[in-house]
Amino acid sequence: MTEYNTVVDCLLAWYIQEQRILPWRQTKDPYKIWISEIMLQQTRVDTVIDYYCRFINTFPSIIHLAEAELDIILKQWEGLGYYSRAKNIYKAARMVVEQYEGKFPNTYEQIIHLPGIGAYTAGAILSIAFNRSYPAVDGNVLRVISRIFLIQNNIGDTAVKKEIHDIVQFLIPEGRAGDFAQALMELGAVICIPRMPKCTICPVHSECRAYHENKQDELPIRSKPRKQKQVLRYIAIIKNNNEILMRKRREGELLGGLWEFPGVEADTIEQFQEKFYVEYGLLIQVDDHILDCEHIFTHIHWKMKVYRCRIVEKHVGNIVENSTWMSKERMNEIPIPTAFQKIKKAVF
Ligand code: ADE
Repeated sequence: MTEYNTVVDCLLAWYIQEQRILPWRQTKDPYKIWISEIMLQQTRVDTVIDYYCRFINTFPSIIHLAEAELDIILKQWEGLGYYSRAKNIYKAARMVVEQYEGKFPNTYEQIIHLPGIGAYTAGAILSIAFNRSYPAVDGNVLRVISRIFLIQNNIGDTAVKKEIHDIVQFLIPEGRAGDFAQALMELGAVICIPRMPKCTICPVHSECRAYHENKQDELPIRSKPRKQKQVLRYIAIIKNNNEILMRKRREGELLGGLWEFPGVEADTIEQFQEKFYVEYGLLIQVDDHILDCEHIFTHIHWKMKVYRCRIVEKHVGNIVENSTWMSKERMNEIPIPTAFQKIKKAVF
């Protein structure tokens, strides 16, 4: 039987002794904790460290962030992906300045209403920055708890998530909410890892039901993720003297607000030309094939065919409104998502 107090004590003692030194662990500033948690949501710790330090250097307070331009923030985010995170951070910073005079709020009700903040992030900020007893349950914590308590139901189910949330709430030790939240995350990140967990060196293995029943490799149970929709995109590299045609993607689209090499979804070169004419007002001749590349998002898998093209005829007076000619220097200043960085390298 799992001994709750032992789990908590062993985990805390281990965390205090073994925790990795990470830049967001050197502060209790809720603004900085918030930024780190948003960056860490879909991105590995190793990758986040540099982005986090650069971001905090550029925007040392929420007021600096609220006064910045979205394009500058997106440029800093370039390469991290999931750009809606950056847009929500910006919106939330402006709300905090307007509604709370730039002081980060400290109640669950206030924090949960900020854009881009869900129960996990609210719990993480409240526990880590304010040491308040709110659970912060992300994928790592779901895995750790489902193993320790041998939860063999699908962790995708709301009821199972709630059960795990309630267990964590119950476990949070008085006055140690911040350390405990980070200890659970840390265990999930370095010991209780998805494949081949390091049970022999785990500080709580004696209390872990999955370990006792040798079921750690089977847990957690989750339903299979849906396969991404495959989309074929033809991309046109069109030069005009030393400039290249670029398009800013529309708000609401995937990668909205970021810049791309102009392209269309198509199945053949003929369809590429037709759709390009409709969407960009330019009749193009498709010349050399430059490269094929791909990018996988959560729900979509883009396969991209990149061609050097020439304008044969303009359909409207000017190129479409969200497209523009751009020098290489200017291109280095605007946010271009990872999906197109490979193309940028191949073109220059
Ligand atoms: N993953 C999510 N939050 C984290 C944190 N605060 N430290 C390390 N990894 C994390």
